[in-house]
Amino acid sequence: MRVIIQKDYDKCAKWAANYIANKIKVARPTAAKPFVLGLPTGSTPMGVYKELVNMFKSGKLSFQHVVTFSMDEYIGLDLDHPQSYAHFMFENLYNHIDIKKENINILNGMTKDYAKECATYESKMRHYGGVNLFFGGIGTDGHIAFNEPGSSLTSRTRVKTLTQETREDNSRFFGNNINKVPKTVLTVGVGTIMDAEEVLIMASGASKAQAIHDTIEEGVNHMCAASALQMHQHGIIVCDDAACSKLLPKTVDYFKQIENLKFEGV
Ligand code: PGA
Repeated sequence: MRVIIQKDYDKCAKWAANYIANKIKVARPTAAKPFVLGLPTGSTPMGVYKELVNMFKSGKLSFQHVVTFSMDEYIGLDLDHPQSYAHFMFENLYNHIDIKKENINILNGMTKDYAKECATYESKMRHYGGVNLFFGGIGTDGHIAFNEPGSSLTSRTRVKTLTQETREDNSRFFGNNINKVPKTVLTVGVGTIMDAEEVLIMASGASKAQAIHDTIEEGVNHMCAASALQMHQHGIIVCDDAACSKLLPKTVDYFKQIENLKFEGV
């Protein structure tokens, strides 16, 4: 696992955006062989999407041959609902870049057939040969996508019930009214994320410190879904000082040392 420690949110967002952009460019995607990117919603990716939009607007990056898969969606919210994740993705990214509509994949929270919706999502990923890079945030309870504590670490796209903690965390988007936060979601599984060639998780702020500690310093445990990253060949966590505040000083020093040596070309 690679752990990139940055001073603050903005630096993490820049790092993540540059990483994603670079991966797309190096892949030289085409219509026949697009770059497949998994994407999150929430507060964490906002700065990353801003950077990516700026790169597109300044002609440094194109999404013409990028295929995206959103990580999750609330059940019962349609595309036009301001808090649906589909709406979020269009508002914050898709409306501002040159991605083709047919290359955007979103879970339909209004489906009547959850099993079919989830199975189709998985088979679409397979159709593209899998996901090249899954980018995500992390919940205060260590969830990735909406894989709450207790999720199987081999889970696939499915229906999930949110914890009280997650609904409280997300109530800020619903006028601080937890009763308005849906109780169930569709989400890619931990196994779905782990199948990606690379996984990049970003965490910012002291509220994520426990989750980051559990992810990096504790064992692989389904009570912290993000800890599955320890089993990934190319897992990266980019986090700021505040999110690292519950890591041991020697852990922080070690990961910083690794990155400094990389910088020197070792
Ligand atoms: P946040 O959510 O980015 O809004 O903090 C992260 C998550 O729940 O995965």
